[in-house]
Amino acid sequence: MANAPHPSLVVRTAGAEAAPDSSPPSQPCIMLVFGASGDLTKRLLVPALYNLACDGLLSENFALLGTAMDALDTESFRARMSEDIKKFHTRKEFDQKVWDDLVSRFFYVPGGFTEMALFETLKTEVKRLDLLYGAGGNVLFYFAVAPRFFGLLCDNLHKSHFKAGPGWKRIIVEKPFGTDLESALKLNEDVLAHWHENQIYRVDHYLGKETVQNLLAFRFSNGMFEPLWNKNYIDNIQFNVSEAVDVEGRGGYYDSSGVLRDMMQNHMFQMLAYLCMEVPGSFEPDAIRNEKAKLLQSVRNYTPEEVSRFVVRGQYGPSVDGEGKPAKPGYREEKDVNPESKTETYAAARFHIDNWRWEGVPIYLRSGKALWKRGTEIIVEFKKAPEVIFRGTPVQSLGPNRLIFHIQPYQGIEIQFQAKIPGPRLYLQPVNMRFAYGDAFKASRYTGYEVMIYACSHGDATLFSRGDLVEAAWRVAQPMMDYWKDTPAEFPNYARGSWGPKAARDLIAKDGRRWHEVVTEEVLRKVPLFKDGDMMFLEQVIMALRSTQVARGDSIIKKGDIGRELYLIARGEVEVLDDSGNVLKVLTDGDIFGEIGVLLSKPRTADVRAKRSCDLFVLDKADFSRILRDNPQFATAIQQVAKERYAVKVDTAALIAPH
Ligand code: BG6
Repeated sequence: MANAPHPSLVVRTAGAEAAPDSSPPSQPCIMLVFGASGDLTKRLLVPALYNLACDGLLSENFALLGTAMDALDTESFRARMSEDIKKFHTRKEFDQKVWDDLVSRFFYVPGGFTEMALFETLKTEVKRLDLLYGAGGNVLFYFAVAPRFFGLLCDNLHKSHFKAGPGWKRIIVEKPFGTDLESALKLNEDVLAHWHENQIYRVDHYLGKETVQNLLAFRFSNGMFEPLWNKNYIDNIQFNVSEAVDVEGRGGYYDSSGVLRDMMQNHMFQMLAYLCMEVPGSFEPDAIRNEKAKLLQSVRNYTPEEVSRFVVRGQYGPSVDGEGKPAKPGYREEKDVNPESKTETYAAARFHIDNWRWEGVPIYLRSGKALWKRGTEIIVEFKKAPEVIFRGTPVQSLGPNRLIFHIQPYQGIEIQFQAKIPGPRLYLQPVNMRFAYGDAFKASRYTGYEVMIYACSHGDATLFSRGDLVEAAWRVAQPMMDYWKDTPAEFPNYARGSWGPKAARDLIAKDGRRWHEVVTEEVLRKVPLFKDGDMMFLEQVIMALRSTQVARGDSIIKKGDIGRELYLIARGEVEVLDDSGNVLKVLTDGDIFGEIGVLLSKPRTADVRAKRSCDLFVLDKADFSRILRDNPQFATAIQQVAKERYAVKVDTAALIAPH
């Protein structure tokens, strides 16, 4: 590989189409898929092959041979794949011609992985297809099966002499790679018994995400950030992976896994390694993977006492409806889950990277299921500027600069800084600059597997995990699993659809910090006022939101005051009170109040008080009016919503008038 161009990284000029125009197609090969009748094949592998074919990136000398227990033959396998692709392809339009050509290169042989006879049949079939398609002896074995089969498959492929002959032979294995340190070590031993490390490609589908791959491109192709990338300038880093989905019927698998094994040990540690690793000497696969491994080896392996101090876990309970009755089940009520399960569906941790670059910089990770939103973000929070020079001005405090990598579903990069609010005095307001992938590139949506298959065919292992990396990640996770096994858990400790357990807020609050919440379009759409807003409109609203905090007992809205703000509760509880101080309603995380205030400049109709300390997002009426002036079509839509949902008549001209 020394002088070969890196196939998955090509420098293009600004504004270029994302579809690679000058990239060579994948290398010729026969792809032998174990588990071809399963979910992964139909949902991800085949749509990825189809995308490669549409982009002209799949070699003409390619064929797929599927195998599994299901009693299919080539004809019924093709028919099934042709049905499934309609559901799972990711392109705007379906190209029948490309599909017909692709599916004509699919073949199928049924059988059990323990039977040597199957491997003999597969060998004959691979040989036949190799001649037919001119694959040059190259074979890509794809293990789309449970990890308990990995060792067995490696063994049987070896015994049936699949490695012999011309061309390369490579194996792609799916996660999970082990369920703890011991099993991962054993798995590596089994897989490497007859195969070489450079033939094993361990998939982590997060590495196939464009936004994750861009972390490296961003860090190392821009001169302005790397000098700041250390403990001297960075205060803390937060990795957030929130999922709105629950276990989605996968209770059987999930109950023996939990979020630490399912998300953190693999996907999140991969992102952590990209973001925090040292600068590699080149973009060669092993130069990058060496640095990733070194980074993960520098993450402190906690003692039980450190686990209790730096890591918290959670499990979701049922959600409740407006009358306080359970609406959707909690984790313990899910299908195939132990009713007394101690499995964590949420975890938050503070990690320490014990090296020169990051010594003393808290690295926070949190992830969970059944949360208020789906969103993955990495937030790099810089040290604040000294406030002292603002003495004598109205500026009371300064916020930190933040660099935010929006991984998904919104894809972009944002820089937050302070700016002067126009006017005669010095007031500051946090503002931001954003880059959105959608604006800069005209890419089609991809599954993330395209680049994996493509890179593997070219022998480029950059995007795949290596044995030592996987082991280092398990070494970090293992003390947590051990500690949790022996410690009682007070579950459930967060409601489905909420912002997660209180323990996670306390974890970071102990350090005098807060989680930085990124409000998403999806969240705003839950509010009737914004339900039908288009993306541009909602983006502007999100950017205008400013965060504030109130203490327990503080009055937020006073009856009779003119309403000028709308509030979104990031965390906490507020009480809506009647004239005699009786509580009419309690609102909590994710709820909105004061929306009438931004619609009408009328006196507030009730008092609202903080029941406990709260983090709030505030939208000022002036900003809302400005946004509506830029999007006049929404002024009318909002007038309609106000009438239907809130029974108020809004004067559109007054609503959008400058103040
Ligand atoms: C998988 C986990 O690896 O990643 C799932 O097993 C999780 O539980 C999924 O939902 C998340 O992937 P993505 O790409 O939707 O963030």
